[in-house]
Amino acid sequence: MSPPPRSATTLPETAVTPSPPRTALVPRPAKARFKAGHFTFGTDTRLRVTAGAEPAAELLRTLLAPATGLRLPPAADGPVVLALDTALTGLGSEGYGLTIGPRSVLLRARTVTGLLRGVQTLRQLLPAQALAATPRPGVPWTLPCADITDVPRLPWRGAMLDVARHFQPLPYLLRYVDLLALHKINVFHLHLTDDQGWRMPVSAYPKLTEIGGHRRRTIRGPSGDHHDGTPHGGAYTRAELGRLVAHAAARGVTVMPEIEMPGHSRAALAAYPHLGNRPERALDVWTRWGVCDTILGVHEEVLDFCRTVLEEVMDVFPSQHLHIGGDECPTTEWERSPAAAGRVRSEGLAGPAALHGWFLTRVGAFLSRQGRRPVAWAETGTELPPGFTAMAWRDPEHALHAARHGHDVINSYHRATYLDYPQSPGPDEPPGQPGGVVGLRDVHGHDPVPAAASPQTAARILGTQAHLWTEYAATPARIEYLTYPRLCALADAGWTGPTPWADFSSRLAGHTARLDALRVARHP
Ligand code: ACM
Repeated sequence: MSPPPRSATTLPETAVTPSPPRTALVPRPAKARFKAGHFTFGTDTRLRVTAGAEPAAELLRTLLAPATGLRLPPAADGPVVLALDTALTGLGSEGYGLTIGPRSVLLRARTVTGLLRGVQTLRQLLPAQALAATPRPGVPWTLPCADITDVPRLPWRGAMLDVARHFQPLPYLLRYVDLLALHKINVFHLHLTDDQGWRMPVSAYPKLTEIGGHRRRTIRGPSGDHHDGTPHGGAYTRAELGRLVAHAAARGVTVMPEIEMPGHSRAALAAYPHLGNRPERALDVWTRWGVCDTILGVHEEVLDFCRTVLEEVMDVFPSQHLHIGGDECPTTEWERSPAAAGRVRSEGLAGPAALHGWFLTRVGAFLSRQGRRPVAWAETGTELPPGFTAMAWRDPEHALHAARHGHDVINSYHRATYLDYPQSPGPDEPPGQPGGVVGLRDVHGHDPVPAAASPQTAARILGTQAHLWTEYAATPARIEYLTYPRLCALADAGWTGPTPWADFSSRLAGHTARLDALRVARHP
């Protein structure tokens, strides 16, 4: 286990700042006007919930009960109204309107998801203690009077967590999703498999987790060979993944799983060597970091394996988008493999390098036939088969290339969205991904929609995503230290669009009290 980061701030509960500016909302609403006066919740305050709006009422009760003790029972004449109105216009699939007066609160949306976003705004408008996990008696639960109309700028605001390099048990994933939802992040991208671990059970291939879920040891720190000599392992049960999906859905968050292929698949090959290019060779689950040249083969059995695995993945994850990796796939093994040479000939390909696109095309077509949308990492922006949604990560212009090439794009430029880089060059930062710094200002200043995009190209940019690879982040405390507050800046970029730094940083100063009430082990 790594030591906790030196400057992490897991605050004692008494240190919660009592009164941040209530208007310090993160992300910033599209339109908000605050007025004099406030609405006060009493122990007997009731909710009027229109037909279909019950999930939002449930979430509001779940979120507020621990600290406030408010029960918010239903009543036809309750002063707090949650109204689903499918005739509302201008709010899209996630927008909401919120009117707070001295005697009433009205939250309206066209969709349940819009109401769920509005619930998070209501929660942020209460005193920060409302976010605590235990009772906070004596706090007046007031909301400032306001008129808010709020619609996201971009439909995809995601966060990726790599649970392959370091496994995190389910309770932490539930908390992780809770924190995403607070920031109106709507996609939780779960990186379930990699060279160093396979975390999802597949009944047709039990060794994926029995063998592929465990590695002998872990290299500690970014420089070199010092390993801890301690086995690391873990896998979710299918029931746990189902609970995660339901917990996230109740908060308006979609869980998008990622199953890596054809590279980053060493853990699968340790379990089933016959899926590789040298079936006679015994492999371990990888104990190094970096790019591994051991990759899947291209024989028919491998495609059967991918389809079977993805069928089970689709059973568990209803997400329309499914991620199949595709990144960092050296083709040296294919260059030496007679079976790969045979495949190149039979498919009429230019050479072994073309097998990468052939592989993704085959698997992507399978997902499309099942009504799903394949997602992959794009390394140039133009190499993915048609129909793939591209996560453009390498260079800032790749998002533009991919969009111009006809792909939907999630702007994942690593120098603005990779949270495994340290957030300052200071000596106090815990060891992180070497080779760069991604500061809060880098995340805040990155517009996911490139300035050079035409309106048609811009329409292809679905949004943006934060990414946390966990080679150097073994614990929840380290994950939160790396994620917050940088994810707050990404949430603003995705939901609101570019905001002036002074505006963002002053809102963040207020929002910090909420993170502290939630005992987020944030970067100072
Ligand atoms: C990646 O960072 N390998 C997508």
